[in-house]
Amino acid sequence: MTVLVTGGAGFIGTNLVLTWLSDGFEKLVTLDKLTYAGNRRNLDGLSSEHHELVVGDIGDRELVACLFSQYRPRAIVNLAAESHVDRSIDGPGDFIETNVVGTFNLLEQTRRYFDSLGPQEAENFRFLHVSTDEVYGSLGPLEPAFTETTPYCPNSPYSASKAASDHLVRAYGHTYGLPTLTTNCSNNYGPYQFPEKLIPLMVLNGLAEKPLPVYGDGQQVRDWLFVTDHVRALKQVLENGEVGQTYNLGGEAEKSNLEVVSLVCTLLDELAPTGRPHANLIEHVRDRPGHDRRYAVNPGKARRTIGFAPSIIFEEGLKATVQWYLENRAWVASVQSGEYRNWIERQYGTLGSADKGRASR
Ligand code: NAD
Ligand code: TYD
Repeated sequence: MTVLVTGGAGFIGTNLVLTWLSDGFEKLVTLDKLTYAGNRRNLDGLSSEHHELVVGDIGDRELVACLFSQYRPRAIVNLAAESHVDRSIDGPGDFIETNVVGTFNLLEQTRRYFDSLGPQEAENFRFLHVSTDEVYGSLGPLEPAFTETTPYCPNSPYSASKAASDHLVRAYGHTYGLPTLTTNCSNNYGPYQFPEKLIPLMVLNGLAEKPLPVYGDGQQVRDWLFVTDHVRALKQVLENGEVGQTYNLGGEAEKSNLEVVSLVCTLLDELAPTGRPHANLIEHVRDRPGHDRRYAVNPGKARRTIGFAPSIIFEEGLKATVQWYLENRAWVASVQSGEYRNWIERQYGTLGSADKGRASR
């Protein structure tokens, strides 16, 4: 038995492959395009008996058809996506291409494969689509957390492209009877996260004693879930989720960005002291256009129905994350390539130099 994981060389995918295999899961085949966010080294050292990496695009119908006939997976976990909001604002095209058109092509090939299965295989087959809480839009300070029935109201090109893919997945379940499951999770953090996202960016900038760019007033709120709690929940959804259902996943750990960055600073003061408080490096910079103010997830349905129960509290998970980045300097150096430097330069300009650049204006 095999499970096909798309985007398995990215942040959540890597943690999923490593965690599921260490928990004794069956063979996994990763399909990953290895964009700037994917890293084949993350999956080095896994034996081909347990894992294979296929480099390619979820939108490549021929390749996907070949993978289906070669491996005959009993399930697909679809993590492949363009995932960074700021990049989606900078250039939305790739988000439409992968998240919308790519998911559509993957669904088309999956439908053909599903239709070819015998009754028993078809009964057991699942398509698990991994999505985000950002599809629900932005909450006011006192509004209740998102549930599975909250209307979609995506605000960024990223969340709009994810919402589109969620709708396609739903339609393929409803129209063609494809056995789909969808999860909408809050912000993940942990090892292997590409350092363009808030937490690893702050850890690495702090270590290099560079400015810590907080957008706007820093009072935007996110709910945080440690990545291994997310990937274990995905396994529970795959095994015990009800076909056609969606599940909200979150850590019930709402924090403002300023709180998160201040905690990172405190941890860096403890784990990598320089004699000066890292909090001195915090700089408020120009806000993200259309910045969602607050996300919060109600994971009650997943708790009641599949036994979802995160095991790592935020402060503990954040400390483990900072420690991981301290202990994995070679990984950090390998992802801080020319492409990464170009992005940082484009997004943050000359922040920290005499002219504070476009971000601070
Ligand atoms: P990531 O950007 O770290 O990884 C995405 C992976 O997909 C990369 O390895 C990339 O190479 C691969 N990929 C991109 N386009 C592809 C294509 N066309 N074909 C095949 N592979 C392709 O993202 P992540 O943080 O690991 O997120 C994984 C999924 O989980 C995404 O769908 C994202 O929307 C969702 N999600 C992420 C979070 C979070 O906080 N990171 C929260 C909720 C949901
Ligand atoms: P991010 O990690 O990009 O995730 P998302 O936008 O999907 O929630 O950002 C998390 C929060 O941190 C978001 O409110 C934007 C903010 N942020 C900053 O203040 N500064 C930064 O340099 C980055 C990357 C994010």
